[in-house]
Amino acid sequence: MVGKTILLVDQNESSRVYLSADLRGKEYNILEAASGKEALISAWRDNPDLILFDPVFSDIQDIEFIQKLRQNARTKTTPQIAFSSDPAPARREACLSAGADEYIIKSPDALSELHQALGRIFDGDAISTDAPEPEPERIRDGLLIVFLSAKGGTGTSSLCANLAMNIKEHEPDARVVVADLILPIGSIGQIVGYEGKLNLVTVADLPSGQTNENYFLKNLPEPESWKFQLLAGSPDPQQGNDLKGNRIGEIVDVLRKTYDFIFLDLGRSLSRISLPLIQQADLIPLIVSTDLSTVELTKTVWEYLQVQGIDMHKMYPILNRAVGLDGLTKTEAEKIIGFSIKTTMPYMGGNFALANNLNQPITVKYPRDTASIVFKNTARDLIKAARQANAENH
Ligand SMILES: Nc1ncnc2c1ncn2[C@@H]1O[C@H](COP(=O)(O)OP(=O)(O)OP(=O)(O)O)[C@@H](O)[C@H]1O
Ligand SMILES: [Mg+2]
Repeated sequence: MVGKTILLVDQNESSRVYLSADLRGKEYNILEAASGKEALISAWRDNPDLILFDPVFSDIQDIEFIQKLRQNARTKTTPQIAFSSDPAPARREACLSAGADEYIIKSPDALSELHQALGRIFDGDAISTDAPEPEPERIRDGLLIVFLSAKGGTGTSSLCANLAMNIKEHEPDARVVVADLILPIGSIGQIVGYEGKLNLVTVADLPSGQTNENYFLKNLPEPESWKFQLLAGSPDPQQGNDLKGNRIGEIVDVLRKTYDFIFLDLGRSLSRISLPLIQQADLIPLIVSTDLSTVELTKTVWEYLQVQGIDMHKMYPILNRAVGLDGLTKTEAEKIIGFSIKTTMPYMGGNFALANNLNQPITVKYPRDTASIVFKNTARDLIKAARQANAENH
């Protein structure tokens, strides 16, 4: 335990001084923070071994504080102890279910309880065989957002890249990755202007031990102005044919452990490889264009997905006016497919293709266009919907 660093968070100075003196006496290194936001910055910057906090902050809600730590890749597994003067069972429950590991009530016995908890948590590192089963990892994995369409050319790849780019607008600290799984040839690299050699096929060729969290964080490119890291797709059909398909599930698993948001572009590929990914998804944005044939095909795809056990609450249908101003209205499309559409992307004429050709996000190239507002709002709503769907799955 000697040498472990604890981030101690308490708005009350005397309480902080008292606790830090006690813990320093036990040879812990102590970092201190007096507010929730100061604590988040220190947690992400200084990488403490444990975060001990009084869950009362004037600048952030306690539950939000816990969740922010849990959702950020740098702190998602850092042990958290809430040290609280509130004995209410509901408060305790709320903190624990948000992700705190322990909830200790400030009382005359609290210090010895705290020392025991620290012992359990830090000794658990050493004798992990006796430790209780860890929580299933999945709960703390990043949110998997899988873009699908029933037909080509509906704007799936463009919307996937542009929505991923807008996530940072709402969650500046989030780690976001986009992986292009389209075979035999991906297009997100083209949209964002990535011309490097690293792609799904080259990554799948590496031994699995090598493609760990560190590998992705260090090596995946972050194309200028896109604000996410990209695992580009197959660059040509020849390489696409050589893809080691059996490695995909494993690669996506590592991405989920590494990033807070994992956007997958599956386009219209419903296959042996893509189905398990769709089944694992937290949210499935289904891109529908306004022409009758796409809408009818979407209905067929949706019926198929239902048979495969996909729940309605995971579906996030987006109507994209990619094909011009005529076509079906939202209500007509909803009637045919049988579910309600969450967002409609306006028709942007040639501007969309131009932004893509210049490798620029829509919100950068046309910040004042209605489409930019829709992208921003939809990104925020996606985050909310994905979290909700994820919570419902557990
Ligand atoms: N809302 C829109 N307004 C105008 N044009 C659009 C819109 N959405 C998409 N487009 C046009 O459609 C083109 C195709 O989009 P994109 O490549 O993203 O579709 P896709 O569904 O991924 O196609 P593929 O089947 O080739 O993978 C874009 O380059 C753009 O020109
Ligand atoms: Mg595409």
